[in-house]
Amino acid sequence: MKNLFYKAIVLFLVGGVVMSCADSDKPNYQYMPDMYKPVGYETYGEYDIFENGQEAKLPVEGTIPRGWMPYDYEDSPEGLANAKANLNNPLPYTEDNLNEGKALYTIYCAVCHGDNGDGKGILTEREKILGVPSYDDVGRAITEGSVYHVIYYGLNSMGSYAVQTSEEERWKITHYVMNLKNELEGGEEIPFEEVKEASVAEANPVEVDRAQQNAQEAQGEGAALTVEEENNN
Ligand code: HEC
Repeated sequence: MKNLFYKAIVLFLVGGVVMSCADSDKPNYQYMPDMYKPVGYETYGEYDIFENGQEAKLPVEGTIPRGWMPYDYEDSPEGLANAKANLNNPLPYTEDNLNEGKALYTIYCAVCHGDNGDGKGILTEREKILGVPSYDDVGRAITEGSVYHVIYYGLNSMGSYAVQTSEEERWKITHYVMNLKNELEGGEEIPFEEVKEASVAEANPVEVDRAQQNAQEAQGEGAALTVEEENNN
């Protein structure tokens, strides 16, 4: 028994001596190093093999991300005037588009502009924000183009909604805003456009643009995908 006791103490001391050699500033022994170190390049890692020593690359000049189209009108009074005169809503005026526009309008815009667009939203009533116009303001004479432009860039104390909304959503909101303007002016109800069920192109030009764009890119990469095949997937 005594013998076992001494053996245990010796074992303990030897263990202590061995462990005391460990340097706490250095990584410990790794039994399966591949589990710790990735085989591929790390996303933001620095590697000599790349031109600027960095794995993360900038987009090639003159290219845009998939599903995103640049907006050509600049953020200036001239840009606004230009969009007001020349920019038109690519989405058809359908009940679905209007209803979706209404839902988005209620989320993003009604707090200031009011449910019916008269500029008397809850924040305006509580004087948290001032100078919110009614959509039938004659001096402003808003158009589809100017509404889209203002959602995209904002205007003075109104912020931009470009981050919260997609291109298609902004055009749906625009339909709803123009509808509110018409109601405020006491105009006749705007008739919905007829859209043939079969024709996706008319129902949703923005999406179709994207599908074509993707198909073109796929062809560009040498893939043998046609538009039909892609649609079937
Ligand atoms: C925080 C309050 C606020 C919210 C939210 C808001 N707006 Fe505005 N909006 C304003 C104010 C203030 C102005 C007046 C800006 C100016 O002319 O200085 C304005 C102006 C406008 C105009 C008139 C622009 C012109 O051509 O004169 C339109 C159209 C408009 N907003 C649409 C929207 C839409 C659509 C949304 C939702 C996506 C929205 N606003 C959300 C405060 C707001």
